[in-house]
Amino acid sequence: MATEDHQKGGSPTSTEPRDDGPTNAASLLSGTSGVSAEESALQHLNVDYNDDGDSAVGGMTVQTSTISVNSSFYNYVEENGRTYHKYKEGKYMMPNDALEIDRLELQHQLWLITLCDELSLVQVKNPQNVLDIGTGTGSWAIEFANRYPSAHVIGCDLSPIQPEYVPSNCHFEIDDAEDEWTYSQKFDLIHGRALVTCFKDPSIVIASAFNSLVPGGYLELQDLILPLRAIDDTLQGTSLDHWLTTTIDAAAMLGTCWKHSGDYVRLLEEAGFVDVVENHFQWPMNTWPKGERMKVLGRYMQENLLRILESLSMAPLTRGAGFTKEKVLELTAEVRKDVVNKSIHAYLPVVVVLKLFACWFLESSTSSAIQKSRGNITASDGSMTNIPTHYEILGLPETIRNDFTIPVQTLRGAYRRALLQNHPDKSQLPPKPTLTSQHTVYSIDQISEAFSILSDGKSRAKYDKELKLQNNSANAAGEKGKQAFRTGVETVDLDDLEFGEAQEEWYRSCRCGDERGFLIKETDLEEAAEDGELNVGCKGCSLWLKVLFGVIEEGIKPVDTGEDTDDLKEAL
Ligand SMILES: C[S@@+](CC[C@H](N)C(=O)[O-])C[C@H]1O[C@@H](n2cnc3c(N)ncnc32)[C@H](O)[C@@H]1O
Repeated sequence: MATEDHQKGGSPTSTEPRDDGPTNAASLLSGTSGVSAEESALQHLNVDYNDDGDSAVGGMTVQTSTISVNSSFYNYVEENGRTYHKYKEGKYMMPNDALEIDRLELQHQLWLITLCDELSLVQVKNPQNVLDIGTGTGSWAIEFANRYPSAHVIGCDLSPIQPEYVPSNCHFEIDDAEDEWTYSQKFDLIHGRALVTCFKDPSIVIASAFNSLVPGGYLELQDLILPLRAIDDTLQGTSLDHWLTTTIDAAAMLGTCWKHSGDYVRLLEEAGFVDVVENHFQWPMNTWPKGERMKVLGRYMQENLLRILESLSMAPLTRGAGFTKEKVLELTAEVRKDVVNKSIHAYLPVVVVLKLFACWFLESSTSSAIQKSRGNITASDGSMTNIPTHYEILGLPETIRNDFTIPVQTLRGAYRRALLQNHPDKSQLPPKPTLTSQHTVYSIDQISEAFSILSDGKSRAKYDKELKLQNNSANAAGEKGKQAFRTGVETVDLDDLEFGEAQEEWYRSCRCGDERGFLIKETDLEEAAEDGELNVGCKGCSLWLKVLFGVIEEGIKPVDTGEDTDDLKEAL
C-alpha cells in the first residue's frame, strides 16, 4: 500500500549508489547478505552537500492532530508546566498533555512514512484479536481496526488519552503492561510501538506476549534505538549529544533503562521465541541527507525532535539529575540549534522486530491431552500416576528430547519462563503473566530440579534412561495412546570414532560420562553392511548413536583404519 510519492526511489536491488531509499515496506526489509541488517539499511544515508533549504520536500507541511479528546477522560498530575499520567503515577516519564498528543500524532505519520503506509510488517490474514501495548493516542489501533474489520483491536495504556469516538471493533483499556495480563482471549498479533522509554523490564512484557499469542500469532515491536547516532563524527561534542546522554543517564538513575530496544532480539530469544527477524530504518535528524524520501523523513523528524526535547527530558532531569525546570529549558534551547543544523549528520536508528510465535511452544501449550499422556507413568503398585516430566515442567517440547544437546540459552529461557509462569508472586521481578486455568502449577523445587538435571549432560542421560524405562513399563501395562519416548540420537561417521587396537573395536564416549559408552565390533558392521548405517546404544545409558559407513569392496574392509580388520572396508 505504498503511496505514489514513496515509489519514486531507486530499485532496492540496484548496485548503483542510491540517492534514495527503497520504496515499499517489502523492499525496505534489510538483510543484504554479508552485511548486518543495520549496516545494509544505512546505505540510504548520504549527505546532501547541495541542500540549502527544504525545496526538495516539495512544500510538504507537518500535520498536527485532528483528534478531539474529551477532557473529562483526563486524570493527570501536573509538574513543571506539563501533565503526566495519574494511574501508577511517576512510572512513565513523558507527559500526556495536548502538546505530547500532537507530537505522538506527528510521530505516527513518521512511522507510516517509514513503513510506506503499512501499519505492520506482519502479513496478517483475517486477524481476529489484536493487542496494541502502550497505545498512546490509539492511532495505530484505530487505523488497524479500520483496515481490518474482522479484527477486534484492544489498545492499552497508562494514560487515558485515546479519542472517545472509535471504530466499534476497537476499544481501549487503562492498564500497566508490566502487570499480570488478564485477557481472556489469545491474540493473533501483539504490537508495541515507541515503547523504549516505558518499561523497567521489557522482558516481563515480552513474556506476557509470549503467553498470550495464538498458534501462528505474531509479536511485533517497532521502536527507536537510543541514543542518536551519526554517519561521521559531527555529533560528537554537540549540545544535542550531551542533552540526550544526560537524559538517558538520569532515566537510568530513576530505574528505567532506555536502551533496551537495541536488545529486543536477544530478549525475544530469551523469552523462548525463535527465528526473530529485525529490520532497520533510520530517521535522519533533519534534511541533511540526499533523496526525497530521506528529506521527508528528516523534515518530520526535525519537527518531532524539536517537540520532544522538553517532554523527553524534563521529568528525568528534574526528578533524577537535580536540574531545575529553568536549567532544562536552557539546555534544550541550545539543543534546538543543533537539531536544525544540517552539518550534524545525525540519525535515529529505528528497528522493527517481528516474531512468529514459536511452533514448539504451541505443542506444549495447546495440546494438553498429549501433555497429560506424556506425564503418565506406572507406579510400583501398577496404578497410573500423573507425574510431570522435567521437560513438561520447563515447558520444553516433545521433539527437543531427541536432541543430543539442548542449548543452554533454551534451557535458561525455559527455566526463567517456568518460574515466572508458575510463581509470579515469588519472582524478584514485578508480577508476571497469569496462568491459564488448565495450567498445572509446578513448585519452585520442581522447576529448579528440572533445570539442574536437564542442563547437566550426565544427569540428563540418566534421567532419560529412567524416563524410558518408565515409559516402557507404561507401554507394557497396555496404556492406550501412550507416546513412545525416543531418546537422543546423534548421527556420526565411522571416522568420528576411535579405534582400539587391543579390543579390535571402534568406540566413542557418551555424554552420560562413559568413556567407551558406544562400542562397535567388526561383526556389527558386517551385519549392518547392507544398510550402511548402524544404530548403537550406549552401554551405560539410554542414548543412541547412528553411525554411517560405506562398503565399497567385496570382502568388506574399512578403508581408513589400515588396521587388522581385513574383512571390512569403509569409505565414507
Ligand atoms: C511514546 S508513547 C507511544 C504511543 C504509541 N505506541 C505510538 O506509537 O504512538 C508510549 C506510550 O506508552 C505508554 N506506557 C508507558 N508505560 C506503560 C506501561 N507500563 N503500560 C502501558 N502503557 C505504558 C505511555 O503512556 C505512552 O502513551
